[in-house]
Amino acid sequence: MIELRHLVKTYGDVAVVRDVSLSAPEAAVTVLLGPPGSGKSTILRMINRLIPADSGSVWIDDEDTAAIHPEALRRRIGYVIQGVGLFPHWNVARNIATVPALLGWPRKRIAARVEQLLDMVNLPPDRFAEKRPSELSGGQAQRVGIARALAADPSLLLMDEPFSALDPVTRRDLQQAFRRIQRDTGKTVVFVTHDLEEALLLGDQVALLRDGKLIQHGPPLQLLEHPADDFVADYFGGAAAGLRRLTLLSAASRAVPGEAGGARLPAQASLHDALEAMLSRGTESVALEGGGVVTLKALLA
Ligand SMILES: Nc1ncnc2c1ncn2[C@@H]1O[C@H](COP(=O)(O)OP(=O)(O)OP(=O)(O)O)[C@@H](O)[C@H]1O
Ligand SMILES: [Mg+2]
Repeated sequence: MIELRHLVKTYGDVAVVRDVSLSAPEAAVTVLLGPPGSGKSTILRMINRLIPADSGSVWIDDEDTAAIHPEALRRRIGYVIQGVGLFPHWNVARNIATVPALLGWPRKRIAARVEQLLDMVNLPPDRFAEKRPSELSGGQAQRVGIARALAADPSLLLMDEPFSALDPVTRRDLQQAFRRIQRDTGKTVVFVTHDLEEALLLGDQVALLRDGKLIQHGPPLQLLEHPADDFVADYFGGAAAGLRRLTLLSAASRAVPGEAGGARLPAQASLHDALEAMLSRGTESVALEGGGVVTLKALLA
């Protein structure tokens, strides 16, 4: 668990993070959401001490991070940023091995770990291990960035708009891959985005910030359905809320017995996935793995 206690950061006379207290629970994804300049990246970088706090503290599993050497702290925390920041002159395998090499792992163990991670992010090692970053697509490079952050198996992961530069299809693909990996490995994640759909899709908890202040914090549905003030309500956009809510409800919850043509959706698909499938196929129903169909009529009801 990561706990922020009364964090404050000021540049000159501008307070960019104002008394933020928040806890990011174990094995969950906590999303920091808010408009540009609201302090999201600053907060993330205060967690791994890339930026020192003026006051307040960050606790990890009941340990004050002020008492941990910054480099030791950063080796314990995976960090993924937009644009990845891979070393251009190193191949993919060596990039992923950065932290294990710093930690002095034996070569065999590093090689095995690199292979395992490449498999995990769906980049076949025999094709990708030797490639240079310049030979990768944006989506592939972002996968390598995720693999690198996971290399030494940190229990905490900080991610700052990792998917924002990608086209919508690649983005969706990586969001799903990330969610699967996060569920499988039980990482505790703090994820920065200003994209509402992404926050709803990935967040177990959402913390909405404005001008360095934490405005509301809780499960996504709670912010959608019980906004604390007009800013929150506006941010979640009244009219669009119904549609967005579909990302949070499982297709299985609205399934009825029956059959439909076309590929089946995974049993854990959301109603939003079901709607997208219907729209792209031009059909009014879609079947689920494990049985049942979701109809457009039921969905709109
Ligand atoms: N080194 C700095 N010196 C002065 N002001 C800074 C510095 N770093 C950040 N700021 C200011 O702090 C505020 C918060 O910045 P931050 O990068 O945390 O925002 P953000 O929420 O991540 O925004 P975005 O969505 O655009 O990435 C901004 O107004 C920014 O201009
Ligand atoms: Mg930022």
